[in-house]
Amino acid sequence: MTSAELPAPYGAGAGTTPTPPAGTPPVPPTGRIRIRHLQQAKENGTRFAMLTAYDQYAAQVFDEAGIEVLLVGDSAANNVLGHATTLPITLDEMILFSRAVSTAARRALVVADLPFGSYEVSSQQAVESSVRLLKEGLVHAVKMEGGAEYADTVRALVRAGIPVMAHIGFTPQSEHALGGYRVQGRGDASQRIVEDAVALADAGAFCVLMEMVPTETADAVDAAVRVPTIGIGAGPGTTGQVLVWQDMAGLRGGRQAKFVKQYADVRTVLADAARAYADDVRAGTFPGPEHTF
Ligand code: KIV
Repeated sequence: MTSAELPAPYGAGAGTTPTPPAGTPPVPPTGRIRIRHLQQAKENGTRFAMLTAYDQYAAQVFDEAGIEVLLVGDSAANNVLGHATTLPITLDEMILFSRAVSTAARRALVVADLPFGSYEVSSQQAVESSVRLLKEGLVHAVKMEGGAEYADTVRALVRAGIPVMAHIGFTPQSEHALGGYRVQGRGDASQRIVEDAVALADAGAFCVLMEMVPTETADAVDAAVRVPTIGIGAGPGTTGQVLVWQDMAGLRGGRQAKFVKQYADVRTVLADAARAYADDVRAGTFPGPEHTF
């Protein structure tokens, strides 16, 4: 990928992210994406893309499409397992999805969520859960929800050699405590988000992901930390963007969050294919001679 292929413009007021020098590749066209490439993207003012993936084929398709980071999100709870929130998914389930994605992805950096209940008790619990995600799920890094109160946990993970992506702003695992899906960091609360980001980056997080925060808050975070930032509902000023793939590709039906842009209508494509198949079966035109031994 060259900077000419990157989405533009980067926009005035996009934090401290500088305008990319012409011809600066954010990451190598081949070979594994490493954390240092994401850091270079921040320093060079280039952007990278992250999508969720929970299975082999989605991981392959997105990897081949050049998506730099694949997130095995605990959003698998909602988007694969049919739960109403991310809370019920277990570490064992996350490991299963992680292994499928990690095995399929050749180039992308693969990051897995620490699910609810797998890290809050102690730094030791967080290290033990993360070790399982790296050892059994074969991922390259973990993502953890929570603010400055988790700085010690980040330090313990980094000490154990486990890269950590911090997730602040709206944190879906705290949905009940936060009173539902609500934008975080508005007005005076902005400063708290910036403090969270700084504490987590200082503790060693290699990246700060922000969900559903005002653009000005996200830009203030991007300006305050040296590490790359990723946004979902955080405006255009972050180093990277992430979307849940079923939202991005239009597989999930129903109302979409404001921050979602739908790039395809996979739900309609699949439904049309299923109807055409059923019609053929009922008409006796499938299987045809070419499908028959
Ligand atoms: O689990 C997930 O998909 C996430 C994204 C919303 C960032 O955490």
